Amino acid sequence: MANQLCIVLDFGGQYNQLIARRVRECGVYCEIRRYDTPLDEIKALNPAGIIFTGGPNSVYDETSPHIAKEYFDLGIPTLGICYGCQLMAYTLGGTVESCTKSEYGKIDVTHGEGSLLFAGVPDTSTVWMSHTDFVSRLPEGFTVTAHSADCPCAAFECPERKLYAVQFHPEVTHSQYGREILHHFLYVVCGFTGDWVMSDFIDNTVQKLREQIGDKQVILGLSGGVDSSVAAALLSKAVGRQLTCVFVDQGLMRKDEGDFVEQTFTKLFDMNFVRVNAQEHFLEKLRGVSDPEEKRRIIGTEFYKVFWDKVRETGADGFFAQGTIYPDRIESGKGNQAGQGSTAVIKTHHNMVEKPADIRFAGTIEPLADLFKDEVRRVGEKLGIPHELVWRQPFPGPGLGVRIIGEITAEKVKILQEADAVFRDEIRKSGLESELKQFFAVLPDVHTVGVMGDHRTYDHLIAIRAVTTDDFMTADWARIPYDVLARVSNRLCNEVEHVNRVVYDITSKPPGTVEWE
Ligand code: XMP
Repeated sequence: MANQLCIVLDFGGQYNQLIARRVRECGVYCEIRRYDTPLDEIKALNPAGIIFTGGPNSVYDETSPHIAKEYFDLGIPTLGICYGCQLMAYTLGGTVESCTKSEYGKIDVTHGEGSLLFAGVPDTSTVWMSHTDFVSRLPEGFTVTAHSADCPCAAFECPERKLYAVQFHPEVTHSQYGREILHHFLYVVCGFTGDWVMSDFIDNTVQKLREQIGDKQVILGLSGGVDSSVAAALLSKAVGRQLTCVFVDQGLMRKDEGDFVEQTFTKLFDMNFVRVNAQEHFLEKLRGVSDPEEKRRIIGTEFYKVFWDKVRETGADGFFAQGTIYPDRIESGKGNQAGQGSTAVIKTHHNMVEKPADIRFAGTIEPLADLFKDEVRRVGEKLGIPHELVWRQPFPGPGLGVRIIGEITAEKVKILQEADAVFRDEIRKSGLESELKQFFAVLPDVHTVGVMGDHRTYDHLIAIRAVTTDDFMTADWARIPYDVLARVSNRLCNEVEHVNRVVYDITSKPPGTVEWE
């Protein structure tokens, strides 16, 4: 049975994915579509509700994304948010004007009696606003349901036509009752039943995978990251030993990580697990190379060479599986043309796996293609993948290769692995792990003078990096307590051979990046 569908119609707002995630958190399956999706296509998808996102434009600008008036004849319950709210009013004959005073940030709004959206919400509550235009005159048949000190029309509706609009952002956690407002729209206005449940997703997907795969084989490139691991576990549940996971260990993972991945998948899951230990090969290719982009290119290229060679050896002729997830393939309402330098374009490159011409597959399988990262993690937990793998912090594809500045050697990899393990151990012990989004050690390849007992030393400097962030586009350095830093420093100099000095990176992003290379 297909899930009931909510569509988030994307008008280029920065919170489009957040809205979709919030809808899914309410137990409703949701997909993001571009604002210019043809009405026929929308109708054919048969959504039980649609949410218009915000966007940076002004409805009066001709180049702004618009919607055909006929959309509102489809009879689909609709919630307009921010720009989406103004667009609803404008398209149906209302007036939108520039605010005399823009509202940005936390604002108090007051609502009257009787709106389904605000049922159970206190008369006055805090919401998140971000707008310079406002609806000054409503279309016929609509009534105002909420206002703020500077915005006379913070929410309006026409319940007979199931059209609702809010100038604020209910999807943002700063909106105190945002979740309730979305919930009311989905359940009371649209009549969703809440059929998006992760355990159902697993059962349905396993069944679909079995039907699709039949008695064929499946090959999956396992990186040890969250997405490919959860895809592997799901496929293992569906087809067991018809699945072969090829794990290329380039020797640039964190300490003992390769063994952990191997143990997890050979002990806990039924599959053929093939590990390729290729550190020597990678170090050989990287010898004498110090340019970061060149290192990235070599590691990426060699990774696939080694992977495809192994796939050839296994005599693959079935399906090729990948851990692609939903954000990897969402097309933004802002457009997604090559050369725009948008994140969407960058991501496409990350996930594009070119298959060599001589290897033929029956097709590609992407079992997680409809899931957001938090949903992937929930599926992973339900499938019994260990916590430390499911909640693994982001780790760059080129691994420690971009955390060793300059040329990479086996000795430097060993020093960095040991140092990184000590730092992570102290963070775990200090209880800071859940607050930090990413924390790791870097080997800047700088030697400094030190003293050990009566001896002068000339050894490696280790830098430690820990950041807090919501989205990795910006990040702040973490205020780790001095006593934790002191313990880390002591242990690094005492326990890790060839380390005699430790520095803590206090650069935020921007101007720094999270990684050093
Ligand atoms: P930066 O350094 O750009 O990092 O601030 C932002 C996030 O991206 C990760 N990162 C990478 N991930 N391949 C990856 O798969 C890469 O080449 C790469 N470079 C950075 C970084 O760890 C952080 O989470």
